[in-house]
Amino acid sequence: MNTLDTMTCASSVISIAYFGIKVILMIFTIIKIIHLFSVFIYGGFLITDNLFLNKMPRNLDEEEHTKARESFMMFVRKVVPPSLVVAVLSGLYLIFQVFGPITDDGLSTFQIILSIKAFLGIWLGLRGFLQVYFGIQPFVFKSHILPFALVVTIILLTQLMYV
Ligand code: HEM
Repeated sequence: MNTLDTMTCASSVISIAYFGIKVILMIFTIIKIIHLFSVFIYGGFLITDNLFLNKMPRNLDEEEHTKARESFMMFVRKVVPPSLVVAVLSGLYLIFQVFGPITDDGLSTFQIILSIKAFLGIWLGLRGFLQVYFGIQPFVFKSHILPFALVVTIILLTQLMYV
């Protein structure tokens, strides 16, 4: 193999490696976008429910309210639980990509906050999944206030972990 062949071969290897890195970065970005949209759907429902829908009884009598809420919830049940599952699965992929090695100094602030966020998110996901698909409710609460508070906390933690 002459020098020219060696150089062509080396440049091909570099091009392939560069392409590989680009694809990996793209997969990360695509999964992160999926994560964001799924948490928008899940969090969006909780925000709508806690800020607006729970005010319906003020203007509607009980029968009207039950009917209005049920017509809304019919669609919520189809979309929101699968979004939560997607949020957790995509989150698990992201955490494996960004967590990084634990050094001799112990966990970094980023790793500590990310772990708390992941724990809360996984707990929320497991709770929702068990409740919707298996009828198991580990913590009995009738309203959506706790999941709402957890989503707000998780979003705050997600921003704080970069500080
Ligand atoms: C329903 C619960 C969840 C909510 C509301 C949520 C929210 C978010 C948001 C808003 C971001 C984007 C941050 C930004 O780019 O500014 C994000 C990123 C991220 N999420 Fe979640 N998440 C949830 C569940 C999870 C779970 C369960 C995990 C892990 C097991 C996870 C791991 C991650 C990671 C690692 C990133 C950062 C990716 C990066 O460094 O760019 N998330 N999350």
